Order: sequence, then C-alpha cells, then structure tokens
Amino acid sequence: MQRSLILLKPDCVQRRLIGEILSRFEAKGLQIVGLKMIQVTPELSRQHYAEHVEKPFYQSLEDFITSAPVVAVALEGLEAITVVRDMLGATNGLKAAPGTIRGDFSSSRQMNLVHASDSPESAERELNLYFQPNEFCEYSMNLTPFMR
Ligand code: PPS
Repeated sequence: MQRSLILLKPDCVQRRLIGEILSRFEAKGLQIVGLKMIQVTPELSRQHYAEHVEKPFYQSLEDFITSAPVVAVALEGLEAITVVRDMLGATNGLKAAPGTIRGDFSSSRQMNLVHASDSPESAERELNLYFQPNEFCEYSMNLTPFMR
C-alpha cells in the first residue's frame, strides 16, 4: 500500500469541482485516509514548492495557490502515487489527454486543478507538511460486520 498527497487547488474549489474529482478517486478504488480544507500561506507554499522557488514562474504559482483555500487529501491504495498521476494526466491542462482529470477539466498549466506527489519521497515530505500523524484515519472498508 502507498499513500499520496493530493491538493485540490483554488481553481478546483472555486469551480465547485471538489466532489466531481474526489468521486473519480473513490471510483478508482483509492481510499481517503486524510481530508481537510486549508488556506495555504506563502510560507507553506515555499515549503511545498521548495524545488521551484528559484524558477521564474514561482511567484505566480505562490499567488495562485494562496488565492483561495485548497483541499488536502491523503489517498491510499496499491501504487497510489502512479495511479493518481496517471489519472491526472499531463501537468499542462492544454496537453493532458482527454479522459484524464486535467484533460477533461483544465485548459491551463497553472490552473491545473490538482497537485499530486510524484515519488514516495515527495509523498512522505508533502503528507507531513499538510497532516499531523494523528490526522490520518485507518479504517476497514468491510461493512459485513454491520449487516443486520
Ligand atoms: S518543472 O519546471 O518542469 O519542474 O515544473 P512542473 O513539474 O511542470 O510543474 C511544477 C509545478 O509548477 C507549476 N508550473 C507553473 N505554474 C505557473 N506558471 C508556469 N509557467 C508553471 N510551470 C509549472 C505546475 O502547475 C506544477 O504545479 P503542481 O502543483 O506540482 O501540479
């Protein structure tokens, strides 16, 4: 089992696509083990996008990610990191294949709706940025014990 950190970005929240996109992850069989809406601060943005802070687009990216709340989601599943990134499609919504989340809903490189961890190392780092250890929920998907 693997965990990945997903951010439903400001454009996703503002376009009222939270439910639509979460339902795709659930339909795929990924399990939500952490979920919260937060306002990203400039400091958190710099921590999250540490590898991009020196890039010319960074200030624009920070202005965008701090412009409205995001929904942070911890998703768990077999090969969750790759599965989620495949479901998202290319970073640039204009280039993402139809059928992927960005391909179906985004026409922008910056407003690409969803961030997802790109490796086990970044997943661990990013999950720790957005969640305290006691904020992860472990639970069974088996309802049989309650059938009566
Ligand atoms: S890079 O330069 O190839 O390493 O960047 P990339 O992995 O494609 O993207 C990393 C995140 O930066 C955002 N991005 C941009 N934002 C604004 N303007 C420009 N030009 C730009 N290029 C990349 C991109 O949306 C990625 O955000 P996340 O949250 O990781 O999807």
